[in-house]
Amino acid sequence: MALRHIVTVPEPVLRRKAKPVTKFDKKLQTLIDDMIETMRDAPGVGLAAPQVNISEQLIVVEYSKEEEEDGIEEKPEKPKKLYVMINPEITKTSEEKVIGVEGCLSIPGIQGEVERFEAIQVKGLNRFGKPQKLKVGGWMARIFQHEIDHLNGVLFTDLAVRLWKFQNEEEHEL
Ligand code: NI
Repeated sequence: MALRHIVTVPEPVLRRKAKPVTKFDKKLQTLIDDMIETMRDAPGVGLAAPQVNISEQLIVVEYSKEEEEDGIEEKPEKPKKLYVMINPEITKTSEEKVIGVEGCLSIPGIQGEVERFEAIQVKGLNRFGKPQKLKVGGWMARIFQHEIDHLNGVLFTDLAVRLWKFQNEEEHEL
C-alpha cells in the first residue's frame, strides 16, 4: 500500500464527471487500499477517487464515534465502519434535510454549512464487483452525499449556505 497525493482546487479532475468502474482487477484493489490508507493518514472520514487524481466512480468512507458531530444521534458504542462503494447511486432520500458543517481535504482551510438529506439509501458495488445496498443516516449520510458529489464534479463549496476560513485541523475532512 502507498499513500496517494490528494489534489486540491482548482485541479480540473475535481470538476470532471468520474467514469464508472468496469474492471475489478488488481490495479483497482491497489487503488482501494491506497485510498483507505490515504484517508486514514490525512486524516479524513471519506475520500473519493478524483481526490487522488483518478476520475473513476469509487469512494471510501470510514466513520467512528470520535468523529461524531454534536447533535447527531448515533448509538454510543458504534464501532468504526469502513465502506468501499463503487459506482454509487443514491436511490432514496429522506424528506428531512439537515444543515451541518463540512470541510474537504481538497479545499484546505475552508469550512461551510451545507444542507443534506438526513438519511439516504445508496446502491453500488463492493470492491469485488458484488452489488451492495446501504441505508445510512446522520453524519454517515452526509459523508456519502459529499463523496458522491465528488464523483459528479460537485464540491461542498458549491452548495454551502455559508463558508468561512478555519485553522483547526481537528475538524472533519471529507
Ligand atoms: Ni471532499
